[in-house]
Amino acid sequence: MVEPGVIEHSAALSARDFGRLSRFIYDTCGIKMPDVKKTMLEARLQKRLRTLGIHSFTEYCDFLFSPEGMEKELVQMLDMVTTNKTDFFREPDHFHYLTQTVLPEWVKRHPGLTLSIWSAGCSSGEEPYTLCMVLSEFALRNPGFDFRILATDISTRVLEKAKTAIYTESQVEPVPMDLKKKYLLRSKDRSSGIVRIVPELREKVRFRRLNFMDDDFGMREQLDIIFCRNVIIYFDRPTQEKLLQRFHRQMKPGAFIFMGHSETLSGLDVPLASVYPTVYRRPK
Ligand SMILES: C[S@@+](CC[C@H](N)C(=O)[O-])C[C@H]1O[C@@H](n2cnc3c(N)ncnc32)[C@H](O)[C@@H]1O
Repeated sequence: MVEPGVIEHSAALSARDFGRLSRFIYDTCGIKMPDVKKTMLEARLQKRLRTLGIHSFTEYCDFLFSPEGMEKELVQMLDMVTTNKTDFFREPDHFHYLTQTVLPEWVKRHPGLTLSIWSAGCSSGEEPYTLCMVLSEFALRNPGFDFRILATDISTRVLEKAKTAIYTESQVEPVPMDLKKKYLLRSKDRSSGIVRIVPELREKVRFRRLNFMDDDFGMREQLDIIFCRNVIIYFDRPTQEKLLQRFHRQMKPGAFIFMGHSETLSGLDVPLASVYPTVYRRPK
């Protein structure tokens, strides 16, 4: 407890504690923490120190690395460390390529089957719900087409938000007006500026926590399409390569993987062919 009248100074992160934390973060979730990230890590974790009433990073590290900390603090710490920036209709040409090229071919090759998509690193849900809107529109033009979406993230905080499916008017701004009218419910209190994804879309998406560094993804079936955009940018090349090899095993022959616009697989030892900028395919 801070005495009344005493000014509380934020704890400083020493090089030693930064080293302990950055090694641990890399080992646990693959995210690289070079020295330039020290100030960012310090600022983000100071919030946790305040919440826990802990006064130094050394004390925080000791708690985090204890059996009790591993159970109670690990998930909270990872929530602070991940960068969750996302948007509806982010990198829109991907959705165009999906509906104009990928889906028409898929429908021809798999009549009567259900398309399975994985939004891997889905953050607060904008990406899987965008997919839901785009695929629902495609289904209207292609009777008999059906799909299901698995959306995963390491951060429980963003997954909770994704499950509520509630967004602000400004967050849904990139959604085209005709889709807003169909797929977003406005709050009864119009002045709240809050909208919610319609139930028919919400029930198409299954959210689950998954750490890409886990030994087992817990997936028995292979997928038709993976969206893993703006995630591997935080990993180093060996981690990227290992992850892409695992994604490859998770893909059906002929399946597609969409990466973020600044992410390239060139130079990685994975048998995926480039078919469109930042879109790759497992050979049939
Ligand atoms: C910048 S967001 C990208 C969201 C969305 N794919 C997009 O492009 O808009 C990256 C997401 O990857 C998640 N992430 C980072 N490391 C992860 C890991 N080891 N396992 C699973 N998800 C991870 C973060 O929690 C974050 O929500």
